[in-house]
Amino acid sequence: MGVQSLVLPQSVVQVPVQSVHHWTDELFSLRVARPASFRFRSGEFVMLGLIVEGRPILRAYSIASPSWDDGLDFFSIKVKDGPLTSRLRHVKPGDQVLLGRKPTGTLVLDALKHGDRLFLFSTGTGIAPFASLVRDPETYEKFHEVVLTHTCRGVKDLQYGANLVAALPQDPLVGEIASTRLTYYPSVTREDHVHVGRITGLIESGRLFRDLGILGLDSVGDRVMICGSMAMISDTRALLEAAGLREGSNAAPGDYVVEKAFVG
Ligand code: A2P
Repeated sequence: MGVQSLVLPQSVVQVPVQSVHHWTDELFSLRVARPASFRFRSGEFVMLGLIVEGRPILRAYSIASPSWDDGLDFFSIKVKDGPLTSRLRHVKPGDQVLLGRKPTGTLVLDALKHGDRLFLFSTGTGIAPFASLVRDPETYEKFHEVVLTHTCRGVKDLQYGANLVAALPQDPLVGEIASTRLTYYPSVTREDHVHVGRITGLIESGRLFRDLGILGLDSVGDRVMICGSMAMISDTRALLEAAGLREGSNAAPGDYVVEKAFVG
């Protein structure tokens, strides 16, 4: 059945794909047109999908572009038999995809109490919401220092984040401020690299803080956002709790917030 003959759920609209980039055999990103009425807060996610055999298949995806941009970027893994990603990976510019009308999420600045330094801990595609936040001027209005960590299995998996950070100095809104206030800390777990190890191990050993030239996590001035697998979130959360940080939400801002990276 063609898309035209379908009655779409009211919660979604169709938008054209503008570009697709394949980073590795397992990772790709796509950019879609942003409907004029679509508003979101940096760090939020939205449903994204396709019509498959006459039915919409939708998954939650963090929006990786800044909230002022006229396109919407997404960063995805390719799951071999995944109902959505095994198909979404083949989209081409001009194809139509489904986009939810209502973005939401907890990785937003409003869910954090006031602080001095913001840590953004990510693994894999969990860097996506932070790709939005590091390009939002409000992030630097609220925090004096921003530390973005990205841990992946291999060096090639870091490329999306490395390109993002390399392009920041040319960013029209945050270029100047980000170059002095953002620290990017990539690490890999299954290859040689300047930084080797899981973020949890780097925190526990103190290596992360030594490399950054700071003492350690401080529950008064440090605020944290975590995005990765369930296991990564729960292990990192335990370390933050042990350091005295408390979880926040949109309704009750706290010292840290978490969100699961898209996986299916
Ligand atoms: P590792 O290679 O030691 O499993 P994945 O591709 O499986 O989502 O993993 C992305 C990155 O997250 C990998 O570097 C992986 O390390 C790391 N990781 C996996 N589980 C955890 C965890 N429980 N805590 C911290 N990092 C993790």
